[in-house]
Amino acid sequence: MLSTQKKIGQGSSHAKIILIGEHAVVYGQPAIALPLKTLKTHAKMTLRQDDQQILESSYYTGPIADVPEFMRGIKHLVMYILTQQNKDIGFTLQVTSQLPIERGMGSSASVAVAIIRAMYDLFSLELDHQTLLKLADVAEKDTHKNPSGLDAATTSSATPIWMIRDQTIDPIPLDLDAYLVICDSGIKGQTSQAIATVKAKLQATPTATKKKIEAIGDLSWQARKQLAQNDVLGLGQTLNAAQEYLRQLEVSEPKLDKLIDLALQNGALGAKLTGGGRGGCFICLVKDQRSAKQLSDLLLANGAIAAWIEPLKK
Ligand code: MEV
Repeated sequence: MLSTQKKIGQGSSHAKIILIGEHAVVYGQPAIALPLKTLKTHAKMTLRQDDQQILESSYYTGPIADVPEFMRGIKHLVMYILTQQNKDIGFTLQVTSQLPIERGMGSSASVAVAIIRAMYDLFSLELDHQTLLKLADVAEKDTHKNPSGLDAATTSSATPIWMIRDQTIDPIPLDLDAYLVICDSGIKGQTSQAIATVKAKLQATPTATKKKIEAIGDLSWQARKQLAQNDVLGLGQTLNAAQEYLRQLEVSEPKLDKLIDLALQNGALGAKLTGGGRGGCFICLVKDQRSAKQLSDLLLANGAIAAWIEPLKK
């Protein structure tokens, strides 16, 4: 029986940008990621008088039991929490998200985090960060197969983070005299496929692939130092080096590569894909707001479908 007095629970989360370390983080190397708070996900769970369990979202509206394959993680997550909390309820779960899907911005994790927060709010339960991440993993495992947890950790975080899988999630100070231009290439890239590409490479050429993964990890350590020293030029080079390894791991994509090259020829101090890759978004490091605006206009005129400017000075 339902013990809660509340009729509506709400939760939110945001987008994430991986500065450096994607893919390598799956294999225990460090990564740096930051929340992009201008893009939000909201979830609202309302109790119903009947026993229907309805999901309303821009991709699907109907019984949660019948969600399309790509939303299976959401269904599992909701059912998991209801079973765990012993709640037998009818509900309408409304999910609205400003995050583009399959663009490396963590949309699946962001949706999972917002839903968990809404359900815990509805049931008036305390939600500690570790529980939140464990629950997000229930959905993320369905979506990405072997998620490191970085996406959920960042989409739920108020600050940039330094993460080593199953070991460390630390807030990291970001106070750099620079801006990021975040650009959507318009190409859909499925993180699960990108993770599978790296896994297949590890199986086919274990020594060489392991070296590349470790090299990305070393670059994350280097980037951390450069952030602490306000070394913008050095950080740009580190991002470029990371992109080269990501290309070698075959998780980049031709249109993405072309846009990245264009950015580097037009004022970017460094540029790389962000997130799973195989399309999706890329980030460009630039020295000031004017350069950021000029570069984002240029990239939009040359095939990028959206761009965001994020100051790195807090
Ligand atoms: C996806 O945003 C980042 C990856 O490193 C996968 C993961 O960390 O779970 C590619």
